[in-house]
Amino acid sequence: MKPYTGVIPRYREFLPVTKKTPVISLQEGNTPLIFSSRISALLGTRFRVYLKYEGLNPTGSFKDRGMTVAISKAKEQGAKAVICASTGNTSASAAAYGARAGIPCIVVIPEGAIAMGKLAQALIYRAKVIAVKGNFDDALRIVREISSQYPAVLVNSINPFRIEGQKTASFEICDFLGTAPHFHSLPVGNAGNITAYWKGYKEYYSQRKISHLPRMLGFQAHGASPIVRGAPVKKPETVATAIRIGNPASWQGALDAREESQGLIQSVTDQEILAAYEILAHQEGVFVEPASAASVAGLLKISKQGYFEQIAGKEITVSCTLTGHGLKDPQIAIKNIQPPPVVAAETERVAAAAGI
Ligand code: F0G
Repeated sequence: MKPYTGVIPRYREFLPVTKKTPVISLQEGNTPLIFSSRISALLGTRFRVYLKYEGLNPTGSFKDRGMTVAISKAKEQGAKAVICASTGNTSASAAAYGARAGIPCIVVIPEGAIAMGKLAQALIYRAKVIAVKGNFDDALRIVREISSQYPAVLVNSINPFRIEGQKTASFEICDFLGTAPHFHSLPVGNAGNITAYWKGYKEYYSQRKISHLPRMLGFQAHGASPIVRGAPVKKPETVATAIRIGNPASWQGALDAREESQGLIQSVTDQEILAAYEILAHQEGVFVEPASAASVAGLLKISKQGYFEQIAGKEITVSCTLTGHGLKDPQIAIKNIQPPPVVAAETERVAAAAGI
């Protein structure tokens, strides 16, 4: 078997690249699809829930799948700079791939609203980071304007190459399972990822690589749920800073995914997000950032509401995207946990403190 070298070589025939495209890669993709016996059991005996652990990408989020394509194409086109707005992960990824391509990267972020690990990444990869006194939606409006007036290529998911790269996650899930899941659950922020997954599933279906399509289940944070409410949210608020977005760029893509797949888009509260975040870490050993846990929180919520009761089938397979690594946001992880006890450096003291 050939060694794995990233999503472009792996899925080249599905991607808008040619022999002339310089491939800028950090060997992203090929992330594990982990069976979760605990979350399956919480849904019921018929369920098989798999976790697509996208936090194991090179910069710790799913954004790398799209960024390898977007930056490779920017390089091919001779871009002098790339620019993005971000709640953190896009900026980390753009900065890393920009560094690797030798293309300067400009990042516009909402001041004080991105997790520490993500800011550290953008800074160490030496992106030009600018914080604005506003939210993500303001930052996105500004980078759209800049990229239309100055020689800087926009690498937010409005850039279609991002969507192309991100759809490879669907391919991997189908290749791993040997079929499509019945449901696919994921968090929704700017709505690029749900758009990309749905595109990927549809392409595999039209190529007859799968014989059915999953229903797409998208979850927004309650305080940042414009698609659920049907109107933009002026001041989005949620503990899940990655999806703190009030006016998603790919709104229509998310609606299409919902309608065409006969799925749903709902919201989950911060409390529900943090409960799922804890279950994943404590019961499965899978550490994700809060936004990622929205996919599991949503599943548990609709299951309790009886959503799956009308669904026929002896076995129901659900894949669930965990979009980013927990180490991105260490502050939230330790926020509600007692700091460790400090004892004398003596065996008996340590044993006593450990309760053994
Ligand atoms: N989960 C994480 C960890 C994210 O960083 C994002 C988006 C999403 C989910 C939602 O994905 O926007 O495609 O619907 N983060 C963007 C960013 C907005 O700037 O990093 P989406």
